Formats: sequence, structure tokens, C-alpha cells
Amino acid sequence: MCGIVGYVGHRDCSDVLVNALSHLEYRGYDSAGIAVFENGDISVAKTKGKLINLTEKMKKEGKPKGIAGIGHTRWATHGEPSDINSHPHSGAKVTLVHNGIIENYKELKDFLIKNGRTFVSDTDTEVVAQLVDHYYDCINDPIKAIIRTTQDLRGSFALGIIFKDFPDTVFAIRRESPLVIGVGEGESFIASDVPAIIEYTKNYYLLEHDEIAVLSKDGIKVYDSHYQPIVKTLKTADWDVNAVGKCGYPHYMIKEINEQPTAIKNTVTPRIKDGMPDLSECNIDPDFLRKVKNIFIVACGTAMHSGMVGKYVMEDIARTPVTVDIASEFRYRNPIISSGDLIIIVSQSGETADSLAAMRLAKSKGAKTLAIVNAMGSTIAREADMLIYTHAGPEISVASTKAYMVQLSVMYLFAFQLAYAKGTIDEQKYKYYTSKLLETPDLVKDVIESTTEMAQKISTQLVSADSLLYIGRGLDYALSMEGSLKLKEISYIHSESYAAGELKHGTISLITPEMPVIAVATQSALYEKTVSNIKEVKARGAKVIMICKESDNVGEDVADFVLKIPNFEEILLPMLVCVPLQLIAYYTSVQRGNDVDQPRNLAKSVTVE
Ligand code: F6R
Repeated sequence: MCGIVGYVGHRDCSDVLVNALSHLEYRGYDSAGIAVFENGDISVAKTKGKLINLTEKMKKEGKPKGIAGIGHTRWATHGEPSDINSHPHSGAKVTLVHNGIIENYKELKDFLIKNGRTFVSDTDTEVVAQLVDHYYDCINDPIKAIIRTTQDLRGSFALGIIFKDFPDTVFAIRRESPLVIGVGEGESFIASDVPAIIEYTKNYYLLEHDEIAVLSKDGIKVYDSHYQPIVKTLKTADWDVNAVGKCGYPHYMIKEINEQPTAIKNTVTPRIKDGMPDLSECNIDPDFLRKVKNIFIVACGTAMHSGMVGKYVMEDIARTPVTVDIASEFRYRNPIISSGDLIIIVSQSGETADSLAAMRLAKSKGAKTLAIVNAMGSTIAREADMLIYTHAGPEISVASTKAYMVQLSVMYLFAFQLAYAKGTIDEQKYKYYTSKLLETPDLVKDVIESTTEMAQKISTQLVSADSLLYIGRGLDYALSMEGSLKLKEISYIHSESYAAGELKHGTISLITPEMPVIAVATQSALYEKTVSNIKEVKARGAKVIMICKESDNVGEDVADFVLKIPNFEEILLPMLVCVPLQLIAYYTSVQRGNDVDQPRNLAKSVTVE
């Protein structure tokens, strides 16, 4: 977590850093700070809280003036959010910003204290600043000092470093945590992610582990960990500045909900050839699929919920056993996997620490790995054996919506191909499913329009609830999980998702008239069963909100509010049903006056365990 930026160029550096940080706040917003070369010295401005606090502070006290510097937005790990613990941190001649965690910071701190150093903060980052300073004192060469420092560090880091003795020069290095180097006209950038710099340049280098970049008025130089110069390949982002702006929407979340039809189109359409999915450019060989024995889908949070939908679909149509695992559990439970198995890692950011570790574990056990990732060039994308990029574009709201939607669309593409390869569906069915998937962008658009009003109405019912339940069976249960997570993370209302048939084994005792129940019942084969479960909660006083198909006749004895979605191929309905679930969460959060895009305690890119 945390976002770091750096700039060397001709513009007002404070403005560039603050603007770039505004696109990285999704990575954390416990504090913000910048350090800029000013009149031969380094000026630091930092404060706890969101970036807006920093801009307010600089309005009152003045902003550092210069053309080169570094900046940071924090998700606190070591030390509470406070002014003192805010980045940048400094030694005598060195100031730096850090994204990641230094696991052995305690022993390094002891070493530095023994060497006469004192500390002002509780952070692991200040230890790095003092260590670079210490080695710079000894070696007197900034790059050698950085290399020597990183030899001592255990953990993950992306660092932006400036030295008093090297004005208007920014040094950067990374291990595990991501970092890109932006290449502009007469200016250069560092950033944790491309959206931070897209307003200035679309061209960038991806820094690899332990590579060091030096940005100065002479341009960009990159060295390997032996201080040998290296030549990097220039990459170009294929989206524009609108992708990182709100474009008139009040929040990124609602903008991103509305971007879903386009995101599906971008993800699915290029992969259809002759009416069938073709994943050969993703290195997926139908012959390999035919032989796959077990599939594990491993991910965290929303990404894991897309895997739940994938499991139901793959098991149903491809008759292949699929286990869905939370990455943080999978990696430590000594899972039984072997070379005939496929591990699918799903991740929007491609940097989630637990998902990455799970993938590495699977590889070490000889299994093949397939990554479904949104962030281009991210670590998970680079290390997987097979890779399907989702093309959602940058997702900025912390609560994931469009990334989930395209993860679902890829689950279908993959499931259809798996089923065809295994011979559990014939060509006609294969083409039929594919043609239905191609209809989803337009349908999702319609559903956004047709369900918004009802979602708003429902949210007024939820706004003062303390707790609620989401229930469903089969695919509807998988969706309930995501609906519940979405609501709780942005509205701060406690909610649980439950398999509808499981309620009576304990949880039903929670039901009171004060506890709304959102029931999802879109699968014909399970409809009556779910309705029975709904009646059980209704009989105990619950207010029921039901999501079902247009053709379902729902009496008042079943539900107090009914939200209908179009009749459509049932296996694909999750792509439609997730829309009102997103909208209900969104409007509830708005009505509660919450910060929808930056909910408390969260960050989007979870690069710590
Ligand atoms: C919730 C949300 C998270 C992420 C999870 C995994 O809205 O966004 O639950 O899905 O942190 O992140 P990625 O997909 O980046 O691995």
C-alpha cells in the first residue's frame, strides 16, 4: 500500500506531486507529504490525513518551490497516522518516501542507534532513510549507498530518494512493491502506478526488482544492482486522461459502475474468433485444458468472489472440480496441489501480497498458474505461466466494481473454453454461450438504467440499519457474498452473506424486524427453495428486499421490495445482478454521507500480508 511519486522537470514540482498523489490516494490516505529541492536545501511539507489536509496546510503556510522532489500518500503500517509518522522521512542528508514494509527494521534500527543515530518516528521508513544516510556517510556515492542499504533490507519497498548533495535529482529503487518511471518531454517522473502520471505522459519504464533509476535534468539513467547501466523498453499506456478523472460523476465508484459495459466489451470482444473464445494469445492451450484435473481459484476479497461465480459455472458446464481459496489461507495451509492442477489467481492490482505469494507457492509445487489481472505489467501478471488481462482500465474507487465485472466476464470466457476442451459442451452450445456473453454489455447498460431508481429507494430502507443479511443459493449465493462486502466496506453497516438454506442452522436467530434481508433469487432451479427460505425470515419479522427476474411474480407475503432484472441466460445472470447490488451499496453510502471512494481504514492495493 502507500503511493509514492517523484518529479524532475520544468513545472512547479509541488503542484505536480500533489496532482500525481491525488491519483494514488486509492493506495492509502492516512497522511500525505512532499519534499522539494528549494534554494539549495530540501523543504518538506507533510501532515496526517488525506491529501486535502496537505493542500490546505500549504495554502496557509506556503508550498515548497522548486522543480524536483518526491511525494507520498500513506496507509499506516508501522506507527499510527500522525504528522510525525507521515512521509517523507529524513536522515542528515537524505530524504525519502517508501511504499512497502521493512520486516527487519527493528534490528536495523538497533544497529543505527548503536551508531549514534536518533529517531523521531515509529516508522520502518525512517530506518531506511537513516540507513541510506549512514552508508552515504561511509561511501560518499548515492547509488552505492542505496545498493548497500538494500542489501540489508528484508521485505518490500519502492523508494523515492533525494540527497541534499544532489540537487534536482531523484533516485528510485524497488523490490516487490511496484514502481514506474514516467518519460516526458524534458521531464521525468516516478510513481507507484501509471494513473498518477498519465496527465503528463503515457510513456513509461517498468522498474524491475533492485533496479535503480536516476532522474535528473540530463534525463533518466537506469542501473542494475551491480551498478551497471541498463537499457529499458519504453511502454505506452493505452488509455487517456479521462480514465483517471471523474468526468462529471460525483464519485469514481458510480463512474466505474457506468463504465462496465465498455469494460466488458474491451475484455471480451477481442478474444472472440469465429464466434468462439480464443485465448491462445494468453498462452492457454486447449490441449492443456483438456487434461486439467483440479482447478483452484485463489484471490482476496472481491476478486475471490468472482472466483466463486467461476466455480459454480466451471463445475456446472465443464464438470471439473474447482476449489475457491482465500489467498491468505491457501498460502499457509499446505494445500494439496500437483503438476496436473491449474491455479487461477485473480487480482485487479496484480500486486496483492497474499495472492502473489499463493501463486509463487503453486508454482513451486509444479502446478501451472493462470493470472486474471487488470493492472498491466504488475508482478502477478509478469510471473504467471498464463495471463488473461481484464481491460477495465484504471479502477480508482477503493470499492471494486468494474474490475469485478470483467473478472466475471473472463470466468465465463475461460469456463466456456474449458468445457469445450473437455467435451462437456458441443460447438453449438459453445457458440451459443459466447453469443450470449457478447450481449451482456448492452444488457448491463440497460440494467444500470432500469434499476437505479429502485436501488435508491432500497438504500433509504437500509440507511439506518445496524446490520443486514444477504442470502441466496448457488450463483445467487456467490453474488450475495459480493453484495454484502460492497455494502459493508463503503456504508459501514454490518452485513453477512449466507447460503439461504443454511440460515436455519443457527443464523436465523439473528432475524428481527430491525434486520433487513436482501434475497437474491434468479436461478429457476433454486427459485422455490429460496422463496421458502425467504418466507422463513419474513415470518420472523424481517423486511425482505428481493432481487429476481422480470418474469417472477412475487407476492407481498414474500418481499417488501422487489427489484427485477431482465430474463436472460441464467448462467450469465451474475453479470446483470451484480449491478443493482453495487448500486444499493453506492446509494446507501452516499446517503450516510460517507466518503464513498475512500472508505475508512482501507486501501486499494494491498501489498502487505
Ligand atoms: C473490495 C476490494 C477488495 C479487493 C481485494 C483484492 O471492493 O476491492 O476486496 O478485491 O483487496 O485486490 P486485488 O484484486 O487487487 O488483488
